Amino acid sequence: MIRVVLSKIKNSIKEPVVNFILNMLMSPAKNFQGRRLFDASELRLLHKALLSQNLFGIDGKFVPEFEKEYAKFYGVPYAVASTSGTAAIHTALGALDLNPGDEIITAPITDLGTIIPILYQQCIPVFADVDHSYNMDPKDVEKKVTSRTKAILVVHLLGNPCDMDAMLAVARKHNIPVVEDCSQAHVTEYKGKYVGTIGDIGCYSFQQAKHMTTGDGGMTITSNKAYYEKMKLFVDKGYARQGWGSRAYLFLGMNYRMNELTAAVGLAQLKKVKEVVKKRNELGTYMTQLLTGLPGVIPAPVTEGAKASYWQYPVYIKQGNIETLAKKMIDQKVWALAGYTGKPIYLCSESLTNKKTFGTSGFPFSTKVTDKVYEYNEGLCPKAEDLLRHMILIPLNESWDNARVERAVSVLKSCLGDSPVIKETPKAAAVPVETKAEKKVRIAIIGCGQMGRWHLNAYKQNSQVELAAFVDSDLSKAQKFAQEAGGKVYVSHQDMLKNEKLDGVSLCTVPNSHYAIGLDLLNAGVNVLCEKPLAVSVREAQAMTAKAKEKNKLLLAAFKFRFFEEVQKAKELLDKNSLGRILNFRLMFGGYINMEGSWYADKKISGGGIIMDNGPHAFDLIRYLLGDIEKVSAETTTSQNISVEDTAQVSCVLKNGAKGVIDVSWTTSVPANNYLEIYGEDGCLLLDFKGLSYKFKTWDEFKRIDNAGNMKIAFNRQIDHFVGALQAGVPSIITNQDGLLTQQVIENAYVSLRVKEKELDATIR
Ligand SMILES: Cc1ncc(COP(=O)(O)O)c(C=O)c1O
Repeated sequence: MIRVVLSKIKNSIKEPVVNFILNMLMSPAKNFQGRRLFDASELRLLHKALLSQNLFGIDGKFVPEFEKEYAKFYGVPYAVASTSGTAAIHTALGALDLNPGDEIITAPITDLGTIIPILYQQCIPVFADVDHSYNMDPKDVEKKVTSRTKAILVVHLLGNPCDMDAMLAVARKHNIPVVEDCSQAHVTEYKGKYVGTIGDIGCYSFQQAKHMTTGDGGMTITSNKAYYEKMKLFVDKGYARQGWGSRAYLFLGMNYRMNELTAAVGLAQLKKVKEVVKKRNELGTYMTQLLTGLPGVIPAPVTEGAKASYWQYPVYIKQGNIETLAKKMIDQKVWALAGYTGKPIYLCSESLTNKKTFGTSGFPFSTKVTDKVYEYNEGLCPKAEDLLRHMILIPLNESWDNARVERAVSVLKSCLGDSPVIKETPKAAAVPVETKAEKKVRIAIIGCGQMGRWHLNAYKQNSQVELAAFVDSDLSKAQKFAQEAGGKVYVSHQDMLKNEKLDGVSLCTVPNSHYAIGLDLLNAGVNVLCEKPLAVSVREAQAMTAKAKEKNKLLLAAFKFRFFEEVQKAKELLDKNSLGRILNFRLMFGGYINMEGSWYADKKISGGGIIMDNGPHAFDLIRYLLGDIEKVSAETTTSQNISVEDTAQVSCVLKNGAKGVIDVSWTTSVPANNYLEIYGEDGCLLLDFKGLSYKFKTWDEFKRIDNAGNMKIAFNRQIDHFVGALQAGVPSIITNQDGLLTQQVIENAYVSLRVKEKELDATIR
């Protein structure tokens, strides 16, 4: 008893002295970012751990103490220490009784440490796209939920919490547990709660760069006792320790045990982390204040109701080369990282892109585990891809002061000022022909009505175009276009051809004039983009196509539907034979146009009814996607008070044997949803001009790609394609033959009506 008292007195005298000396020894020590992470508090606990002559956590004092204190700090009953953030996440997943092939929805912008545990549990990462906060968008998470989804693994990126209310609403609705990866978000508040305590399980990394660190290390917390018990076993090989005797390992676990030295450092760090985060929050908030309103940048987002901990500070750079910018900043001694991981994590690891997982097995993507096909390609999470192309990270930390924040912002401003502006990366789309020349192409529009207006608007968007002339028999219409876009005006195309040197013409007059004007243009050596139908008969179309060949000029029919994003995607799938042998299809193009009294209903001008007017788009789309149409048989009705058909149904047999039905009408009473369904032996797709849904026979559910574009965008792409073709000399998406081949189908549909045959051979000879 006396000895104990004496040693306590001795220690109480010694401690401040020892602390003073140790602090003196440690004080110059800082890491390369200026952080002074460790001091006497870590040293003393490490000393104690070493003195105990035991560093094995299972028998030790420090690991259980660290777990107890960590749980208390976060206000939860349970915490399990492990060797890294990756291990902490794996431990969480280990508690969920996952089966091989189960899907886990997670974030595309993160460290691979989020993904590795999913793959090691033989599960499949399914990436949900992010919103402006760089975190997963709960709406996209919900879209990704399937019957196989067994967890949502959220990442609170860069110290900013996810929208947890919305995330939990999705999770609870579908009864899916939520695991929170808080590796970058220690002590980070969302609506008064710490992240990591809001979902079912929270995971933390103590890697060197984190808010608190043990060099490497991790912690998993929960309020769920059953999860806790499994997690405790998981980090210890599944070992149910019961003293000596025969051993029992209850399931497949790992050795992720933390040791006493790590826990000693962790205990000391835990005492400091609140201050660290408080300081970072102040500095980050100040940086946002300075960046707000600065042209060309968007400061770090903070989720509503959150207090961010700014693991690093992201700045969205609207335009400019982020690599050049970061390099310039580093040259001025402000450390900056372009694009965080550079690409979304699903494009960074061959374990996903090339399925390099366990030997050559391809597990868990192999058909032995799942009957679904998972591809990790560019375009999977477009928003994440865009954000990473535009973001730089400024790694502020608690050793900074306001002056350093001000300097970082002023260096950013000056570097932005002299940064060369680069063109935005073009969106993946129906990429037109590569342009060779920088020389502008001289274009004229013939026919300045409604269709000419569409062409004009699209040409105006193309910087390679000089609008040289406009022609209309009503000069005032041509003048209106010229007032908007410059250029000369003419009442006849012959006059124009005498006076203008042109590269291309958009021919937007009524159908029966295409033949004569088209021939004049081609004879004059001008390339033609001709509105549909190319002509009103095959004979005319043949003559025009032959002339184009003779003069070596382009004669492209304006098949704008080819340029929809989802049509291009469907084309890609079909060209790869993804649907197998095509069996049948159904296409509906409908809507309402009052044809009474208009040239549409005057066969001499229009060449026919709906089959001549909207048939070209319908037939062309089928030809483009599925191949040539061999036989057609049409049925028509006329509901409007006109002498041409306003509604038609055309049965088709394709050269490849597929059969299908095309419905076209200008008399559907409500605006129709245009759509195309294609069924093959191995899959099907549904294209509705709002997007594309497709499904292979091994899949449970459709994959949906929503169309970011619309008719206007498709139309602009069609014009870009023509301009690109003028510059490159060859078109890539429409050829000179397409107008003629489609005209043949139209004519055969009419012949089938006239001769009242059920089916007719429509082979092009
Ligand atoms: C978001 C995120 N998750 C997981 C990890 C993995 O943590 P560790 O490196 O400790 O395994 C990290 C680490 O960088 C991370 O930032």
